Amino acid sequence: MKFHLDEKIWLIASFGVIIGMMLFTGYQTFVLGMGPPSHMETIDPQKVDETSPFDEPGLYQIGENEYEVVMTLQLFSFTPNEIEIPAGATVHFTLTSKDVTHGFQIAGTNVNAMVMPGHIQKITQTFTEPGEYLVLCNEYCGTGHQYMATTITVK
Ligand code: CUA
Repeated sequence: MKFHLDEKIWLIASFGVIIGMMLFTGYQTFVLGMGPPSHMETIDPQKVDETSPFDEPGLYQIGENEYEVVMTLQLFSFTPNEIEIPAGATVHFTLTSKDVTHGFQIAGTNVNAMVMPGHIQKITQTFTEPGEYLVLCNEYCGTGHQYMATTITVK
C-alpha cells in the first residue's frame, strides 16, 4: 500500500499531536503533580466505626480558630450533623463514606468533593463570612439522596 505525500504528512502530524498531548499530560501529572490524587489514604469501609479517627466523629479544635471535622457520610446523613464554628475559622475536613459514593458540597464555597467508601478525603476551607452554609450530597446515592444535607453555622 502506498500513501500519497499529503496523507503521510497528515498521518505524521496527527500522531505528533497525540504523542505531544500524552507527553504534556504526563508532564502535568508526574512533574507538576496535577494528576488525580493517587496518594489518597485508604480505609476498610466495613470497619469505619472502629477505625481512628472515624471511631469518634466530631468537631475538634486544633489551634487558634482552627478546627478538624472528622465526618462520616452514610445513607442518607452526615455525622456529625449541624456544625457550629466561629467566623474566620479554618476547618480541615477528614471524610469517608460507610457505604456508597456520596458528595460533599458546601454551598457558597468552592468545596465540592466525592467521598468514596474505602478512601479518606481531606479538604480545608476557611469560613470568613458568618452565615448558614448548606452542605449537600451531590452524588446520587439512592432514594433518600435529596434529603441528604446538613448545615455549617458560622457566627
Ligand atoms: Cu449521599 Cu446523595
